[in-house]
Amino acid sequence: MSAVLAAEAASASKPQASSIAVVLLGTGVVGGAFLKLLNTPAAASIRLVGAANSRRQQTQAEHLADRALRDKLKTHGDVRNDASLLGALDANDAPVKVIIDATASGALAQCHADWLARGYHVVTANKSLAGGDLPGWRALQAALAKGGRYGDSATVGAGLPVISTLRRLRQCGDALLTLEGVFSGSLSYLFNQYDGSQPFSALLRRARELGYTEPDPRSDLSGEDVARKLLILARCAGFALRPDEVEVESLVPESLRGVDVETFLSRLEELDEPLATRFAEAKARGGALRFLARLNQRGRARVGLVEVPANHPATRLYGTDNQFALSTTRYNTQPLVIQGPGAGPEVTAQALLGDVLALA
Ligand SMILES: NC(=O)c1ccc[n+]([C@@H]2O[C@H](COP(=O)([O-])OP(=O)(O)OC[C@H]3O[C@@H](n4cnc5c(N)ncnc54)[C@H](OP(=O)(O)O)[C@@H]3O)[C@@H](O)[C@H]2O)c1
Repeated sequence: MSAVLAAEAASASKPQASSIAVVLLGTGVVGGAFLKLLNTPAAASIRLVGAANSRRQQTQAEHLADRALRDKLKTHGDVRNDASLLGALDANDAPVKVIIDATASGALAQCHADWLARGYHVVTANKSLAGGDLPGWRALQAALAKGGRYGDSATVGAGLPVISTLRRLRQCGDALLTLEGVFSGSLSYLFNQYDGSQPFSALLRRARELGYTEPDPRSDLSGEDVARKLLILARCAGFALRPDEVEVESLVPESLRGVDVETFLSRLEELDEPLATRFAEAKARGGALRFLARLNQRGRARVGLVEVPANHPATRLYGTDNQFALSTTRYNTQPLVIQGPGAGPEVTAQALLGDVLALA
């Protein structure tokens, strides 16, 4: 063996020093998948120094190393306290300190700018800040201008390289002309499958059983989640839009918006007739229905159900795929299209991991 190979073999057998210390907020579907990734060689440079769900947290090394950490946190651990989690980061000598937000908590998202200002990096799957009110987003930009780094790949398309592509194009002096696509895995599935042969409500029940929708499917059908993703992308493209500047068409009838989940689920058939009518009209004209997000050159943003021609790119989606079609000053004869699985714990957790590793 050459001296170089021998040295490489020796260094590979040594435990690698951790250069990145992380605190994980949220040990649900995405956070749980991230914990699994931490046990892979790709994450060898990362040291978990704290983990929390909404009620409990853990900062002790032996408990954090436990493969059953996620389940144990449900019943054991210290009471939630952000200050002691940050203290665990401070106490670690890794040069890069990262807070990972794998929750949907608006309150935690409001802390992101402050954490950045205090010298931590933030990596997030939580859309509430970048896709929330304009003052919050501006506070985030101000903190980033002072040097913090924000990993937000997981907030749109579950890590499909759409945010990074938009930023790169802008950096090169390219400008977005239009953005159009299917930004929701559940709405993609529903309209990829809906062919009039069964009521929409039956399809929705099946999608819910398969775990493709939120437990309360109104979170998906309202279009609000898609609107948040469109806001994030619009802002990345240079349009600092307010949430009320995104026109959102909800698929939830007025009469079902205020009722509890059980009642909503027992009255799903009320969705059927209006959608069946729109489907039949579209079909008669040779078109199809897709739930699209659209942004035009003047920054007009709209989210809703659209009748598209049968050869539209969004009619060639499968399962829960997302699609992002970007027309720019340089991609102007054909759009640049990014397409693929836009939901799922493994790919979302991988997007978080990629953003964390990029900080080192
Ligand atoms: N699932 C996906 O495929 C996917 C894809 C892309 C992006 N996302 C985004 O990723 C985020 C997480 O999604 P998920 O599916 O993993 O949700 P989830 O399964 O509901 O998990 C959310 C986790 O956040 C925890 N949490 C809530 N408030 C907290 C707080 N103040 N401090 C610490 N932990 C807190 C919850 O704790 P408890 O267990 O105590 O309630 C739970 O562990 C969301 O923003 C979602 O939009 C999800």
